[in-house]
Amino acid sequence: MNPGSDPRLLVIPQRLSGVKHIIPVMSSKGGVGKTLLSTLLALAGADKKLKVGLLDLDFTNPSTHIVLGIDPSSIQPVEEKGVIPPIIHGIKYMTLAMYTGENPTPLRGNAINDAFLEILAITRWGELDYLFIDTPPGLSDAQLNLLTYLPSRIEPLIVATPSPLAIISVEKLLRVLIEGKYRIIGLVENMSNNRKLLMIAQKYNIRYLGPIPYFKEIDNLIGNLEALRSSQFYGKIIDILEKIIYV
Ligand SMILES: Nc1ncnc2c1ncn2[C@@H]1O[C@H](COP(=O)(O)OP(=O)(O)OP(=O)(O)O)[C@@H](O)[C@H]1O
Ligand SMILES: [Mg+2]
Repeated sequence: MNPGSDPRLLVIPQRLSGVKHIIPVMSSKGGVGKTLLSTLLALAGADKKLKVGLLDLDFTNPSTHIVLGIDPSSIQPVEEKGVIPPIIHGIKYMTLAMYTGENPTPLRGNAINDAFLEILAITRWGELDYLFIDTPPGLSDAQLNLLTYLPSRIEPLIVATPSPLAIISVEKLLRVLIEGKYRIIGLVENMSNNRKLLMIAQKYNIRYLGPIPYFKEIDNLIGNLEALRSSQFYGKIIDILEKIIYV
């Protein structure tokens, strides 16, 4: 089907009409910390009593539930004129993993597009201050769908590491977003003890939201919210959230 004629495209803006800010966390490379950042930004928002949502759009590898320390197949989303996202640790939460559990979901092309339209068309977010979205890496279907279907609604947050292998690729992503006139909320430099990407942010005239150092203990804390909350990493997440909130 030509997606342009899909009736779900009419429903999606209504479903998101009560959401003030839609923040997809994007990167040009994999493994840079999008999942950890998007999930913990949502958690930090909930801790601040903001109305926050978290949507996992990494359909082939949803993993936000692992950060939250929950078994997604144990959650039964309530169906009522759509799906009401369950509230997990104060976050309105949606992930395909609630339907697939930990079974593999080797989707491609049309199936990803279909799952994207379906999850956005059925989910009743209600009123939210911030909806954080975890995305798969690179200009993949999920990212391109967000750019195509929600161009005036999204405010992408870019995550990158300072590796020489990553710098050219983050510039490519930034160029696509800038040429498309998307409102980029800022650039986070992750796993970095210096500010190597500051010059990239300056070159493209976007906000540099700071470096997050490499914390070698962080993997041991994943899924343990109390330990995560008291980590230095979480302190950095709160700093970034405050920069996003108090523009
Ligand atoms: N600042 C950091 N210090 C140490 N480890 C980190 C840091 N940020 C992320 N990590 C670790 O790096 C790995 C990749 O993180 P994450 O899964 O969030 O990246 P991702 O961008 O979502 O990856 P993918 O592109 O595969 O979805 C994880 O093991 C995570 O715990
Ligand atoms: Mg991820």
